[in-house]
Amino acid sequence: MTVRMEERGRFMRRTVDNPLDGAAVDRLMRRAVEATSGTYPHPNPRVGAVVISPDGTVRNVGAHVRPGTPHAERLALEGLGDTAGDTMVVTLEPCSHHGRTPPCTDAIIEAGIVRVFIGTVDPDDRVSGRGVAALRDAGIEVVETGLSAMIEGNDPGYYHHRRTGRPLVTLKLALTLDGQIAALDGTSQWITSPEARRDAHELRAAHDAVLVGAGTVRQDDPELTVRIDGWDGPQPVPVVFKGNRPLPKDAKLWQRDPIVVEPTNNGAVSINDSLRDLARVGITSVLVEGGAHVARSFINADAVDEIVVYIGARLAGGTGLSALAGPFATIADALPLTFTGVDRVGPDLKINARIERNT
Ligand SMILES: NC(=O)c1ccc[n+]([C@@H]2O[C@H](COP(=O)([O-])OP(=O)(O)OC[C@H]3O[C@@H](n4cnc5c(N)ncnc54)[C@H](OP(=O)(O)O)[C@@H]3O)[C@@H](O)[C@H]2O)c1
Repeated sequence: MTVRMEERGRFMRRTVDNPLDGAAVDRLMRRAVEATSGTYPHPNPRVGAVVISPDGTVRNVGAHVRPGTPHAERLALEGLGDTAGDTMVVTLEPCSHHGRTPPCTDAIIEAGIVRVFIGTVDPDDRVSGRGVAALRDAGIEVVETGLSAMIEGNDPGYYHHRRTGRPLVTLKLALTLDGQIAALDGTSQWITSPEARRDAHELRAAHDAVLVGAGTVRQDDPELTVRIDGWDGPQPVPVVFKGNRPLPKDAKLWQRDPIVVEPTNNGAVSINDSLRDLARVGITSVLVEGGAHVARSFINADAVDEIVVYIGARLAGGTGLSALAGPFATIADALPLTFTGVDRVGPDLKINARIERNT
């Protein structure tokens, strides 16, 4: 290992030969991602950081846990004493702007870090390359690792939200094998098994908001909470699309201070406007749980990014309420899908799908 002192601008830095090969960086980046497990920082990103000494030893790991708490880079540097000459591996480009906390680039520069491996550049307009530039201006070597797929897969809502100004929308449906979400009398509890319902609670836990239509509030009186033993994360924000008719005064949802989205003149909520409004209040992902009319509206507005269907091991044996309201006029109207996952959950099936666009 070679260590030398170099003066770059105002900063004296020890520079070292890089002891980290691609496989080591990959491993350390995974460690940084693992550090974000159990963190709920939205609308901020999930970020993990690892500080490594010049000989390649991991000195500390940090993660950004909740909005308003210190960022991963600062936590990873905290209490280490002399960090001059150390390397940092961080999942996301460090921030260079003052938010609720000061810029992480300042902390990295002051700590004498000589090299930063970043998982991906931050698409947030306030950062977006400025963090990398600030570090490079201070003489720090910045390596963009090309591990964006892994990083974005760990926090898909954040990246979608920052790039599009809308939350990532997942449509969830629970169907009988023959495609019914409820019987003629409106009953749908329960089409799927306790195992599938538990899985669906994991899905809620992974989203910032859970959205239903007025029809579902009237029929099912849902709480839209995550009910998993030992769950200590935040509850998703409940969102209701109100229509022409009043919502029931005694609905359980009122105890949860839901966002009630009011309809426009035609009596229905505008999907696109509501998604932009939800994004503006910091919601990065929405789980749409139905019912059939709301699900159809999201499909018609081309606003569904992911579909998760639980197929209960049941046959309705007739027509009750099909998954999407409205007519299926001709086969050419069927949207092409790609199935991205199929799993057994207890006695049921779980299918992940994405609508193919431009085909
Ligand atoms: N198996 C499942 O996965 C599942 C999940 C959820 C619900 N369900 C079942 O689905 C049934 C409820 O479904 P639903 O189709 O009757 O009701 P819904 O889709 O939950 O709600 C539809 C109502 O929402 C209001 N609304 C406001 N903006 C809208 C928009 N842009 N698009 C559509 N609706 C809008 C309207 O209220 P107004 O009527 O006041 O105008 C509309 O009638 C229940 O039987 C429930 O058990 C099943």
